[in-house]
Amino acid sequence: MSTSKTRVGIIGAGPSGLMLSHLLHLSGVDNVVIEARSREYCENRIRAGILEYEVAELMRATGLGERMDSVGSRHDGTNFLVNGELHHINFQNLVGKHVMLYSQHEVVRDLIAARLKAGGELIFEASDAAVHDYETGDPYITYTQNGINHRLDCDIIAGCDGFHGICRPAFPAGMIVEYDRLYPFGWLGILAEAPPSLDELIYANHPNGFALLSMRSPTISRLYLQCAPDEPLENWPDDRIWEELALRLGHDGFNLNTGKIFQKSVTAMRSYVAEPMQTGRLFLAGDAAHIVPPTGAKGLNSAIADVAILHRALEAHFKHNDHEALASYTPICLKRIWQIERFSWWMTSMMHKFDNHGPFDARMQTAELNYILTSSAGQMTLAENYVGLPLH
Ligand code: APR
Ligand code: PHB
Repeated sequence: MSTSKTRVGIIGAGPSGLMLSHLLHLSGVDNVVIEARSREYCENRIRAGILEYEVAELMRATGLGERMDSVGSRHDGTNFLVNGELHHINFQNLVGKHVMLYSQHEVVRDLIAARLKAGGELIFEASDAAVHDYETGDPYITYTQNGINHRLDCDIIAGCDGFHGICRPAFPAGMIVEYDRLYPFGWLGILAEAPPSLDELIYANHPNGFALLSMRSPTISRLYLQCAPDEPLENWPDDRIWEELALRLGHDGFNLNTGKIFQKSVTAMRSYVAEPMQTGRLFLAGDAAHIVPPTGAKGLNSAIADVAILHRALEAHFKHNDHEALASYTPICLKRIWQIERFSWWMTSMMHKFDNHGPFDARMQTAELNYILTSSAGQMTLAENYVGLPLH
């Protein structure tokens, strides 16, 4: 068994683990990231694409803004398509902020490059990671890499290991209360070699179900269709996807650009929160503690918010001997998380077709959309949440 020591042992090299590692490094706090998958896998995992205003500002403030500002694009607003009518919501005019379109895997690439350039320790392809003695003052992590068993002693363990990780299940039995909502639909998502048909996103509410037009670059479109949560991909040959997208996104003067589809997948939709986010010296962040449905693009942003909060608490703990900050991690995070959960649930409820809705529910959904899209107070609510609540 080889042994080593660090201040913060981080499990998971997704956006939350990597950003925590980067922020801690900038504060001079030693840390090691342990990741089950390969670097290549982490760098190519296709996920969401919208960065909240303050998340983009955090990227810039910590030296990660360059590629985001050159290959990403600034979106001052977004579009809602309801009853065939396109409504533009201008975030910049409403709340003085914008969002950045920049893929999550690009954020991951930038973070990995920055950590490696700074001599950071990222351990990829580590199997059998396990956390120990985190209820005492001397926690440690064990893992195997290339057949060699390792032990990493640390002061704090950060569980940034996603929804299916090992850290949440390591909490004492009965300690975690889970809040869970499964939605009766999923999203069929595609990436296609097609220039985006519009310069900003379209969230479409259509009698056949929700559709979303997004993009990754001037030549790549990212598009989604509401489908069954367990929809077999065989049901969706390319022609059917394009037909349905053209129908659900169609409106006056709109022409859907099509092209070669090079990625297709179905994602189920879920809202989930685990409380609390800390036991002893083990802290959860990101998808390890909570999940949102993708409507509103909050998954990545809420993961970054958690680690921004955790970083501040760890900095206070290690640099200023202030140990209260760590004790407040759960309540500070959860207050913000529940706001994000509410927004994502609300956007999902407002935009999708619910097969169990009776005529009254359907009218309520229409009334809600009419209010949001026609009242300046309604638009402001949408804009304020979409560009992101303050990180702290
Ligand atoms: N040992 C080591 N690493 C692990 C283990 C384990 N036992 N289990 C999981 N991991 C790794 C995963 O391989 C993954 O790289 O933890 C990482 C978790 O990353 P994410 O799932 O991306 O979670 P997070 O960093 O919190 O980011 C949340 O990702 O899923 C999206 O929509 C979500 O955008 C949100 C963001
Ligand atoms: C995406 O581009 O993948 C995306 C954008 C906005 C969302 C969800 C996903 O709400």
